[in-house]
Amino acid sequence: MGKPLDAPLGSNSLSVRDNRTGKSYSIPIVDNSISATDFKAMSAPRAPGEREENETEKGLRVSDKGFLNTAVLRSEITFIDGDAGVLRYRGYPIEQLALESSHLETAYLLIYGSLPTKSQFQVFQDEIMHHSVIHADAEQFFRSFRYDAHPMAILTSALAYLGSYYSQANPSLQGQNLFTKGDKASLAVMDKQIYRLIGKATTLAAMAYRVRQGREFVTPPTGLSYTGSFLYQMDYLGQENYVPNPVLEKALDVLFLLHADHELNASATTVLQTSSSLVDPFSAIAAGCASLYGPLHGGANEAVIRMLISIGKPENVPAFIEAVKKREKVLSGFGHRVYKTSDPRSFIVRKTADEVFKITGKDELLETAMALHDAAMKDEYFIKRKLAPNVDFWSGLIYRAMGFPNDFFPVLFAVPRVVGWLAHWRQMMLQTGGVKIWRPRQIYVGETKRDYVPVDERIAVVGPKKTPRRWNTLGFQSGRILRRSRASTQSCEFRRVAGAIVSR
Ligand code: ACO
Repeated sequence: MGKPLDAPLGSNSLSVRDNRTGKSYSIPIVDNSISATDFKAMSAPRAPGEREENETEKGLRVSDKGFLNTAVLRSEITFIDGDAGVLRYRGYPIEQLALESSHLETAYLLIYGSLPTKSQFQVFQDEIMHHSVIHADAEQFFRSFRYDAHPMAILTSALAYLGSYYSQANPSLQGQNLFTKGDKASLAVMDKQIYRLIGKATTLAAMAYRVRQGREFVTPPTGLSYTGSFLYQMDYLGQENYVPNPVLEKALDVLFLLHADHELNASATTVLQTSSSLVDPFSAIAAGCASLYGPLHGGANEAVIRMLISIGKPENVPAFIEAVKKREKVLSGFGHRVYKTSDPRSFIVRKTADEVFKITGKDELLETAMALHDAAMKDEYFIKRKLAPNVDFWSGLIYRAMGFPNDFFPVLFAVPRVVGWLAHWRQMMLQTGGVKIWRPRQIYVGETKRDYVPVDERIAVVGPKKTPRRWNTLGFQSGRILRRSRASTQSCEFRRVAGAIVSR
């Protein structure tokens, strides 16, 4: 900072002149990035009419709503080139990993940085499978949910709940540097939490499924692969020598591997934001799971199926495409914030779908999906906007063919993503210079200082976003009972009955 502006052309710096003060600054460019804190040195006296809340004397702020161009850390885990359709885990192309590796081997790679040897993998796999069993008391916890609870709500809560079992691995109880020391003991506690979280993710997910089906819970079996054990825990119904279908087990493993990480998306960022306070990893992963639950993130695979059902048959595709172009509809499973040519995962998922359909039979929606895909890929609207199928376009069809309920699809995204979240968490805990709590800035545009007004002297401020409404005025007459009907709990509709207002 502070070098003269006449830095030679080609030097790795940015020359900035603050026209408020006439001062010039030279900001270093490192790895094609500039540090936002360098701008903090650019202060200016408050100009006439400038709001005091703009704090010009305290330095320039950098604003970036939605993190569109802010790098919040240095990472060695995943690289994406959205223009070229490239995805690499620790340098390895996703296509090679999907073909040659397994979800657990890739988990080792993502978390520890290199592919394991045979014996390293054996230890890792054994530890994870060994830690898949959960305390029997947890069964009561699962049974406390309503029959129609969304499985992501159950999984999110269960992850947070289970964290309460490990007081010896909780920085709030054992000291804030429990995971940041980097010594042998600290790394061992960290590994154990990693084994537990990956091992128990499938168990919790299967329990979330079974409790809604009214099935007894199943103890994780021995001798099966990670995805084999998961399918067993989901589907076992007392059959003798039951083993999951190996083709479906392999297909799910490939899907898990493809979903294991995707650098700093909303949920990984949530995990890191939460972890930056040095909370225990179960709590941080639960927060990531909550973020993934949102329809803009983990729910697109489910939306694709709803869309295909609404289209119904290939003959209706042209009308649907026209509706998309008129912006009356959205083509779910197409487009991506990062990938502007193609999502490399979508090709692998498409191939995996063919393998699955050989076992399950073709899904009745496949023809419609293919007609939709082909029509969109030829249409100028989609070509011009660089809209191609993303990973969710085909994955929902596979999950459906395998018999998973629609609302379980985000769980099938969350379980493998636990791996990526943990890789980011571990990297953050061990990063050079320690952990800095994530505390973004804001641009305060609210009221400037004002004095408290006694209640009798106030003038009512009204407006739809300014005043809370009585909930029973939303289309209902007050003075009558509104009781939630069993059938309408999910859509939050209410049934009227005489008397007073009743809600859960
Ligand atoms: N259908 C129709 N039009 C689309 C679609 C789509 N699926 N996606 C983008 N567009 C259009 C936009 O309307 C916009 O058109 P305009 O420039 O004429 O206004 C243009 O393409 C650019 O789109 P943006 O919204 O700027 O792209 P952005 O990067 O903000 O959004 C997103 C990406 C959210 C994924 C978007 O493409 C979308 O909504 N897709 C459907 C939902 C989906 O499949 N999500 C899963 C993503 S993958 C994942 O999370 C694993």
